[in-house]
Amino acid sequence: MTTTERAVGSDVRRIDGPDKVRGRVPYAYEHELGAQSVFVAIVQSPVARGRVTSIDASAAEAVPGVLAVLTHENAPRLGDVAEEILVLQSPVVQYAGEPVAVVVAETSEVARDAVGRVRVDYESADPDVVLSVDRDDLYPPEQLMAGFETDSVIGDVDAALAEAPVTVDVVYETPNQHNNPIEMHATVARWDGDVLRMWDANQGPHNLVPVITEAFGITEDQLHITSPYVGGAFGSKAYTHVHQLLAGMAAKVTGRTVKLELTRQQMFSLVGHRTPTIQRLRLGARPDGTLTAISHEVVEHTSQNAEFAEQTATATRLMYSAPARRTTHRLAKLDVPAPTIMRAPGEAPGMYALESAMDELAAELGMDPVELRLRNEPDRDPERDVPWSTRNLVACLTQGAERFGWAGRDHRPGVREDGRWLVGTGVAAATYPTRRRPSQARIEAVAGKPYVVSIDASDIGTGAWTTLTQIAADALGVPMDQVRLRIGDSRLPQASGAGGSTGITSWGPAIMAAAQELHDRFGGQVPADGVTVTGSSGPGDEAEQLSSHAFGAHFAEVRVDRDTGEVRVPRMTGVFAVGRVINTVTARSQLLGGMTMGLSMALHEESVLDERRGHYANHDLAEYHIAANADVGEVDIAWVDEVDDAHNPLGAKGIGEIGIVGSAAAIGNAYWHATGRRVRDLPITPDKWF
Ligand code: MOS
Repeated sequence: MTTTERAVGSDVRRIDGPDKVRGRVPYAYEHELGAQSVFVAIVQSPVARGRVTSIDASAAEAVPGVLAVLTHENAPRLGDVAEEILVLQSPVVQYAGEPVAVVVAETSEVARDAVGRVRVDYESADPDVVLSVDRDDLYPPEQLMAGFETDSVIGDVDAALAEAPVTVDVVYETPNQHNNPIEMHATVARWDGDVLRMWDANQGPHNLVPVITEAFGITEDQLHITSPYVGGAFGSKAYTHVHQLLAGMAAKVTGRTVKLELTRQQMFSLVGHRTPTIQRLRLGARPDGTLTAISHEVVEHTSQNAEFAEQTATATRLMYSAPARRTTHRLAKLDVPAPTIMRAPGEAPGMYALESAMDELAAELGMDPVELRLRNEPDRDPERDVPWSTRNLVACLTQGAERFGWAGRDHRPGVREDGRWLVGTGVAAATYPTRRRPSQARIEAVAGKPYVVSIDASDIGTGAWTTLTQIAADALGVPMDQVRLRIGDSRLPQASGAGGSTGITSWGPAIMAAAQELHDRFGGQVPADGVTVTGSSGPGDEAEQLSSHAFGAHFAEVRVDRDTGEVRVPRMTGVFAVGRVINTVTARSQLLGGMTMGLSMALHEESVLDERRGHYANHDLAEYHIAANADVGEVDIAWVDEVDDAHNPLGAKGIGEIGIVGSAAAIGNAYWHATGRRVRDLPITPDKWF
């Protein structure tokens, strides 16, 4: 059956929206399973490096309502899982905030009160948490995230830079940042005999199954995770963290249904963060703007208990061509919590640096920064030497310039004033890989009833409830109200997690394959006694033959108050080439959310590590600043007409992450254009004006 395209491409509103705003659907922590639930609170180490020498839980245990206190001395032993989540297994402390005990109590108030009564003594050493390019222990990780090589070298970069008539040699820094979905991570856990039941906030229950089964020594049949509604994630809910294991342990020891919700403060130590980066960019060019050398060297951190190597410079490998190119990644192992993925890990900080450096090069050349990019547009992937599936960066730049009103821009910095405000504009390009992962789906058909479409997909606020229903309706040739979607449950057919902008490209084709199966076997005539079909879908060898990426262009206007250094962004334009757009409303929201997060990255977000104590000092939303409504001006969003059939039958590319990529650079570039000053360490806060 071919897609009838009645629903796909439309502007249908979120089908889960009305129930969500009326509070009719439960998020993980809201699952009410009877009056017997008990509560878990976590005792965290104030020490970043050391060991627990003694724990006295007697005062906590004496509080009425306390059921148990678990420590490394009495907690259940966990199986062979990653060191970063081996919680309560040893007295060793590897980061500030590491759980050293949990209290299980009848109410959450009692549990939290008892936390303060657990006496823990430590042996400690000064933490090592400062990232610097001068450290003598920087090392090349074996591999980067997503399987990328650590370094890439083409030609002789140093010679090319030495010969280049025009060069840029600059260092950018991006800070620690924390994923802050509004719904804190939460798990409700209960053992039904030897079956572990979990209601959990995550980016795909099947992502967690291998780790949790291994941790508790159970089979897949003995684990059931439900996660139908999730209040944001941004990467921190992609993987198993310590709280899920603590909940499972607490449920096991007490035999009760336990509820564990992290506090906002705990979100800053227990569920990962974006690594800080120090990035040296060197570009060489001929006077006409043709790049002759590109060098991008990255220094970033990981933790003592994990090898997390963010692929920060990999977008630089494909963005522009030059005969001599090099990228490197070096890590420092610090006494910090394990970093994790955060919206566009790699591309967001890496493209900030590359696209800022391109702006600096344009200034050196005296050239329009849009024109500089157009002149360096490669017709094949310059690193892999394979064709693009589709590359519409030029269309994004030219359409974006048109929409924004770029033509006639005076490229001189620091010459526009509007009262106290210095005014400037900036541009930057964006890219994000197009990928697809194996997924399966099931369709149950009963004559005269809606189709039930089941897949362990995840809607983390993206709109997947709606878009998957659209895709199913078209594939089945019925209106959307004839489809009942079921997602977010580890007992549903296995699907990939919501990550890497792969949701729609992975799940949609699996649903289409199941619908095709139904059509092939029954020709659209559902047998009277009903039928169940399955479909599966996954990547072929197209990723080897082709280079597939989404592209985009950001334009921003920045105003800087000459007296206070206050920075305002009254308008932004983003134009993207993201393949077929499934839903024009939810797609716009994804891109708008990404651009807003880029604005937040440019101007606000920074987790400050206390160098003496090793903890994140500003660990709440009062002090960790995130762009709010009043920070966001007019945001103009568009996409070019593009269908990319190389990867999946939907022709889609994924839109969850590209909105944040490059947006911070566009704002930084506009700041320079307004003021004549480059701020090369994010965020661009008012104090940096002085
Ligand atoms: Mo997204 S950071 O790939 O979950």
